Amino acid sequence: MSKLKVKYICSNCGFETLRWLGKCPQCSTWNSFIEEVFETGRAKEKILKKETKFYKLNEISSNREERIKTGILEFDRVLGGGFIEGSVVLIGGDPGIGKSTLVLQAVGKIKEKVLYVTGEESIEQIKMRANRLKLKSENILILPETDLNSILATIRTETPIVVVIDSIQTVYDSNYDNAAGTVTQIRECTSKLLSEAKKNNFVVVIIGHVTKEGMLAGPKLLEHIVDTVIQFEGEGKNSYRILRATKNRFGNTNEIGIFEMQESGLEEVKNPSELFLSGRDKNISGSAVTASIEGTRPLLIEVQALVTPSHFGNPQRVATGYDYRRLSILLAVLERRANCKVSSHNVFLNMVGGVRIDEPAADLAICSAIASSLYDKTCDNNSIIVGEVGLGGEIRSVGNVEKRISEAAKLGFKRIIIPASNNKAIKTSNSIQVISVDSLSETISLVLK
Ligand code: TYD
Ligand code: MG
Repeated sequence: MSKLKVKYICSNCGFETLRWLGKCPQCSTWNSFIEEVFETGRAKEKILKKETKFYKLNEISSNREERIKTGILEFDRVLGGGFIEGSVVLIGGDPGIGKSTLVLQAVGKIKEKVLYVTGEESIEQIKMRANRLKLKSENILILPETDLNSILATIRTETPIVVVIDSIQTVYDSNYDNAAGTVTQIRECTSKLLSEAKKNNFVVVIIGHVTKEGMLAGPKLLEHIVDTVIQFEGEGKNSYRILRATKNRFGNTNEIGIFEMQESGLEEVKNPSELFLSGRDKNISGSAVTASIEGTRPLLIEVQALVTPSHFGNPQRVATGYDYRRLSILLAVLERRANCKVSSHNVFLNMVGGVRIDEPAADLAICSAIASSLYDKTCDNNSIIVGEVGLGGEIRSVGNVEKRISEAAKLGFKRIIIPASNNKAIKTSNSIQVISVDSLSETISLVLK
């Protein structure tokens, strides 16, 4: 006989325990445990002896590299070239950021059959959105349904190439008593969709909300199950949106796609460097521009620093879009190797435009911006600064220099400062002056006017 019992599940990562905990031992989130009822005994279904089959590696045929392109270049690039058949893609983001818009736009150009399952909006609301986007596709079937088994039945009869689930928090499997949106439902529904997708070779695009309250299952829980996790980010009032892959079994996770939300849907931003540099005031101190490589593409990004004297014992260090510990290291190098006395100053660092930079090639521009703010002198505003700073204050070589130089030249910069060790590899370019440097103090005296 089955018996009802209670267990507690972390809504962020899915960790299970039999008693309530304040902090999750697995993902360290506070107050994320929610109560779920489960039946004991049900799991003891008779296990039939299944025949197993194995395959020789060289005999398996693979057509995996054939991708389904959405025609939205920024989206395809983040996916690694388009959807792969049989894969599951999770698109996460805050409510209202534009997930439904993005996905509808993306599937709108696919030539084969698409099933769009909507649990949040009525079919009329989807139609209104399609009208705004001027979509007239005959290939999209809209299914207003939240029962997973009915959805799977429709998938089997209609055999679509892409299935969109908008959103996973509204879908439930009637074999479980838990409400839709609970950890158990989200996990079970996703794994069922996944095994169906792998078996019948269609793509599943799952839309999931991310809420800070932890009432709904966080992205971590699904990250392990799905093939690709894409974050759709943006700031409330800003119309720019950044699409970023945080996990991708079939592509590069450094790729980003940039969009602007307009009256008629999301518009791709074709020249993001121009966007990131627009609004730059060339005559203020504390600003430097670097050329960063995001995935396969060069991007010019403005680095801003503000250095102010600290009147209290402990100076503040705040980094937005950059690793805080890395900033501390660069400050120590500036102090010791370039004689910039920053230890009793507050330092605020910002990567303009909401981007995040992880690559060390931005080090030199960051140090230049900090020195520029410290001395209140403008940093050479016609130069792009690229280079990794070593602990000895030496400038180390970076990858993809050619790409960075050509992007700088394309946007009309006069000079680019690069590590001397990179210089041998450079064919001299006529459109831009290439200056090579090998120490931090040399660079700072070069760029500060
Ligand atoms: P939506 O895709 O519904 O967001 P999500 O699915 O992530 O909750 O879109 C949210 C916002 O986008 C909404 O406030 C209206 C705006 N929007 C436009 O500005 N232009 C458009 O063409 C569309 C369809 C939406
Ligand atoms: Mg939506």
